Amino acid sequence: MKKRIILIALALAAAFQSLRAEEGMWLPLLISQRIEDMQAHGFRLTAEDVYSVNQASLKDAVVLFGSGCTGELVSREGLLFTNHHCGFSQIQQHSSVEHDYLKDGFWAMSRSEELPNKGLTVSFLERMEDVTGLVLRGYDESMGEAQRDSLVKANGDALVKQAADPAKGVSARVEALYYANQYFLFVYKVYRDVRLVGAPPSSIGKFGGDTDNWMWPRHTGDFSIFRIYAGKDNEPADYSEDNIPYTPKRFFKISRAGVQEGDFTFVYGCPGSTKEYVTSDEVRYVGEVSDPEKIALRTLRLDIQKKYMSQDPAVRIQYASKNANVSNAWKKWQGESKGIARLGTVADKQAYERRFAAWAEGTRYEGLLDRLSALYAARNPVYRAYEYYTETVRTVELLQLANNVKTALDAGRPVAELATSFFKDYYQPIDEEIFVSVLDAFDRNMNPGYKPDWFKTKLAEYGGSFSAWRDDLFAKSLFTDPQRVAALTRDDLPAVTADPAWALWDAFYQWYRTELQPVITESDRQIRLAYRDYMRAQMEFEPDKAFYPDANLTLRVAYGHVAGYSPADAIYYAPVSTLKGIIEKDNPDIYDYDIPQVLRDLYAAGGREDQPVCFLATNHTSGGNSGSPVINADGNLIGINFDRVWEGTMSDVVFDPDYCRNISLDIRYLLFVVKEIGHADWLFEEIAFAD
Ligand code: ARG
Ligand code: GLU
Repeated sequence: MKKRIILIALALAAAFQSLRAEEGMWLPLLISQRIEDMQAHGFRLTAEDVYSVNQASLKDAVVLFGSGCTGELVSREGLLFTNHHCGFSQIQQHSSVEHDYLKDGFWAMSRSEELPNKGLTVSFLERMEDVTGLVLRGYDESMGEAQRDSLVKANGDALVKQAADPAKGVSARVEALYYANQYFLFVYKVYRDVRLVGAPPSSIGKFGGDTDNWMWPRHTGDFSIFRIYAGKDNEPADYSEDNIPYTPKRFFKISRAGVQEGDFTFVYGCPGSTKEYVTSDEVRYVGEVSDPEKIALRTLRLDIQKKYMSQDPAVRIQYASKNANVSNAWKKWQGESKGIARLGTVADKQAYERRFAAWAEGTRYEGLLDRLSALYAARNPVYRAYEYYTETVRTVELLQLANNVKTALDAGRPVAELATSFFKDYYQPIDEEIFVSVLDAFDRNMNPGYKPDWFKTKLAEYGGSFSAWRDDLFAKSLFTDPQRVAALTRDDLPAVTADPAWALWDAFYQWYRTELQPVITESDRQIRLAYRDYMRAQMEFEPDKAFYPDANLTLRVAYGHVAGYSPADAIYYAPVSTLKGIIEKDNPDIYDYDIPQVLRDLYAAGGREDQPVCFLATNHTSGGNSGSPVINADGNLIGINFDRVWEGTMSDVVFDPDYCRNISLDIRYLLFVVKEIGHADWLFEEIAFAD
């Protein structure tokens, strides 16, 4: 009996352990190394089903959408799903006062109503290949770094040239993975006629806005629908009325069976950037210096914006998008910094580094960590000044305008349009207050050695008063006058360069260019080099550990399962949200929570309380995974990834299975909105349902 209990306990422990194996964003090419573990977690397909160059595989149904999101194919006729926030600028571009698609949504009722989008592309990964040997051909260890660089570049360029075929829309890139210990060739086919098919009203697609951003419980219908068009031969083509819907090699069937806690989930998409293998110094800088300081600086700006936005609805609209942009990273950094502190990642990494250093003694890696430490010690104060500069002086809108105008005039471009779009969303009292606030913060928090001399002199001229400086600058600058700015030509360049707004911008820029940038560039170069050794060394130090490469916007596989979490003592978050929660949040007086009347009516008609909206899972994702397909054990589409919970955003540095959750739209909510709100169920005819 006792033995049986022990056996059961062991089995449970093993199951528990393997259930916690959700960290990682794996290369599809090497998925055979993970497939057994995926199957042990419930996945029912094979490695070839996930990635293959010989037959159609799931990868053929996934695209890089634009330059920073993911999308997935859902029909034989090129229909594509991504996030509302990924299609936002396209939806916005088609919107006008008469047709406000952002506000009211947009639904094509036939193919001919689908809207073309200049500049929008989707990239299919045709294949990826480990080309390390080819890229390093001719390399030997006696070579200097400059020589290695030029060799890598020449070999890489040759590979790209061989693989790419611009006339056919085929592009190629060689990417350095594992800090340039390995090189992979990525070959893409890029389609450039991508049309907007549907988008819900923002009150659904952005429901919860920045109030709910990075948070759970979440109820955002964050999707938009596009269609890829091709030439008659199904190949990439410029927009033309004669183009036909693209026939994909593979598309996802949609599962309506729904998700339950514990269900296997698989996110296939393009995470942008992570740093999982950095030293304790870097983690400390991120968690204890950079994040908190940037958060504080952004809080100043957000508070000022919010104050004026709450006083005037016109200002609220003007600053809605700017405010959203400032607040997105602001919230993410809070989760990252808190998460790093809570997990004790700095101490963990230090302990690891002590073990590593002991192991490294007598090897070529001896002293490597000390070298990295010294590099960080030299870089960090300069880097901190750079971050302060970007989060203060460079955020003053009037100064940005001065710079944009100057650049346009230098290039011989007209500035009238630039002026119109700037002043449409400009509210000077906000900018004036931010000017004082951020310059003051810069002055208070930077050591004298990290301030431009020009700035010190100028401030002294104003008797140390930023308000006096502001009054003078905003009174004298020509950039506060919309008519004047719109009429500027090259002949006005002397007036522009003499302007106090331009002078301030430029003085800081010159300081950055001469005093900060060279130091940062050089230390970054040396740090990257040291990491090439440190990455390789970590792999030698722990030969049995599976290392996934840091994200770099290339296609990755992240698998996990549907799971709730406990964000704080005595709180547990269930993993599925429903329409009931939308109605609970609904409030016509709060912009972020004001839902369309039709949704209220649908709910009031009854029977919709349990309509699922979003769900949580343990997939390791990052920025760029927005729009990624969330797939079940049978390879069918159950959701669209669009966010993470803020308590888990340190997963870009360190993954914690207790807190790291990705947030997905439940595909059944998309179906509900398309049918009941968009009345665009003509789209369902081409969609294949798995169940
Ligand atoms: N947090 C998500 C991301 O990082 C969504 C951002 C867009 N939504 C917003 N409310 N700002 O991209
Ligand atoms: N919203 C993010 C994006 O646009 C995804 C969320 C994340 O960072 O995981 O890529």
